[in-house]
Amino acid sequence: MGAYSAAMRKMNVLLGLSVLTIACASASIWAAEEPRRLIETRPGHRFWSTREDRENLSRRAHEEGRCGGFMDITDYPIRGPLPPQSFRLLAGLEPKEQANVLPLIREADEGNLISVITHLSAFEDRNYQTQSGVQAAEWIKDQYTRFAGNRPDIKVELVKHRFRQPSVIATIQGSGPARDEIVVIGGHLDSISPGKAPGADDNASGTATVMEAYRLIVKSGMRLNRTLQFMGYAGEEEGLLGSQDIATRYREEKKNVVGALQFDMTMYPGSNPRMTYITDYTNRDLNRYTERLSDEYVKALWIEDECGYACSDHASWTSAGYRSTFPFESAFGSDNPDIHTPRDTLDKLTPSHGLKYLKLALAFGVEMAEVTTPGYRRPASH
Ligand code: BES
Ligand code: ZN
Repeated sequence: MGAYSAAMRKMNVLLGLSVLTIACASASIWAAEEPRRLIETRPGHRFWSTREDRENLSRRAHEEGRCGGFMDITDYPIRGPLPPQSFRLLAGLEPKEQANVLPLIREADEGNLISVITHLSAFEDRNYQTQSGVQAAEWIKDQYTRFAGNRPDIKVELVKHRFRQPSVIATIQGSGPARDEIVVIGGHLDSISPGKAPGADDNASGTATVMEAYRLIVKSGMRLNRTLQFMGYAGEEEGLLGSQDIATRYREEKKNVVGALQFDMTMYPGSNPRMTYITDYTNRDLNRYTERLSDEYVKALWIEDECGYACSDHASWTSAGYRSTFPFESAFGSDNPDIHTPRDTLDKLTPSHGLKYLKLALAFGVEMAEVTTPGYRRPASH
């Protein structure tokens, strides 16, 4: 299973669809009565699906190496790009916040990532429609609130959707001239599996990365020029539901998101460890810039590869007209074979690999949002 190449995966998307047509012939009358949902299985390939269609797609994806995911776009028809943004990316833009980023990176620690993953994977599941799925989101919100202490410039909220599980957003309000520009660091908080769904790699690992980056930035006391938002998206496994809801609302409200960094699976390096920048449904300039940050601060090998379909929440930002980037745990084909099963557990993971993504999150947050507040002095390290 681990040997799937990107090309094989794309072939399987096609095969999956032809098998689907046969399976549909026996669709039950109940499935026929439920309203169909519009899904996209790869760029430009959309159809109105029954619940059974979607279950077949997921089952085949799970059985055959997660090759055939889909994006539920019923409520979010794709729109054209936004007007050019004020934040001038990025050609040749060089890292400049070393004095603020390096002390944070020195504090980045595997132990805290492990502790968050342990908590999150202890929920029975983090499903978008279950009580434990709601409780997991509330637990994340409580952590953000606790870390914020009394800071008046930090706001933590649950975002309601048309299903039970909420998304979570923690905001560090910018205090400089570019405070209306928003930098997003996010990942999905839900999990999916038949039975127990620990989702340690998919995606407690990314969620822990986002939460720990927030904790370290808050703890440093630094004040930022731009507004920095940390997001846990609900319902990703059902078709990027939470992130599409958020990204389309941001677009409607004309919010100026200058870049969205996605973490979805960070701790399973496979046999040949490399950070992998996903090139489809992401922004080329933001990918280049983030790769540059990798070289400066993470100093680990990276490659580029594609998913072949809208495989995670970065696609929601792209579809809403914003720039996104998605560094993934491994090359496609040597990713974690246990995701979407009860076997997606912490003991299969490699925390030192996950630490690279935490370093990147810190670098991205501080470089993109900029420490500009006059008088900020970082605490003496000891
Ligand atoms: N973390 C996965 C995406 C992923 C899996 C990327 C393996 C690269 C390799 C994500 O949670 C997921 O499962 N996505 C679905 C698609 C989604 C739109 C329902 C998938 O890949 O089938
Ligand atoms: Zn998944």
